[in-house]
Amino acid sequence: MILVDHPLVRVHITALRNKATSVDAFRLHLTALARLMAFPVLGNLATQEIEVTTPMAQTVGVRLLREPILVPVLRAGLGLVEGFRDVIPGAVVSHLGMYRDHETLKPVRYYSNFPMERQNHPFILLDPMLATGGSAVDALDYLKSEGAQDIRLVSIIAAPEGVARVANTHPDVPVYTAALDKRLDEHGYIIPGLGDAGDRQFGTL
Ligand code: URA
Repeated sequence: MILVDHPLVRVHITALRNKATSVDAFRLHLTALARLMAFPVLGNLATQEIEVTTPMAQTVGVRLLREPILVPVLRAGLGLVEGFRDVIPGAVVSHLGMYRDHETLKPVRYYSNFPMERQNHPFILLDPMLATGGSAVDALDYLKSEGAQDIRLVSIIAAPEGVARVANTHPDVPVYTAALDKRLDEHGYIIPGLGDAGDRQFGTL
């Protein structure tokens, strides 16, 4: 697990935790946090040298060898898309819809649009709350079954249980988070956490 630590990251996480933060402000803080997290998450993207002509001369620059694909897990992952797209404007977004079946407690995938022709691109799985790790593991299983090889998981708050579960099942996947919290409650919510990340950003409280 890679803990992304920066004074601004801590400030945004604090605002997100605060139950008095409005839906609008929550969205803005989440986007700002995603923008900050994009730097370490994308720090080792492969580049390719290209020629570039300035108004003064020719020189050498770079372009990304393979543009990363953003994979937000619906619906809470949507809140991280804008911040990442701010730094990679043309990034392809491949949505992944999952819900937890109340009886089996297993994640059920109801929507996906994997970009088959871009299997060898880096995949950035966006799922803000890494709680039990159940949906993250299912999402990683799915992406790998479609051929993805380079996957990075981005959460903003993680519980030790979720971090351990992903590390045990997908040791090759780096897990980025902005905070490692204490524990889960009996309903699988992160304590102290921030509540339900989907409800907080979409106002369905
Ligand atoms: N999902 C959330 O939105 N919040 C939690 O605390 C756990 C899972």
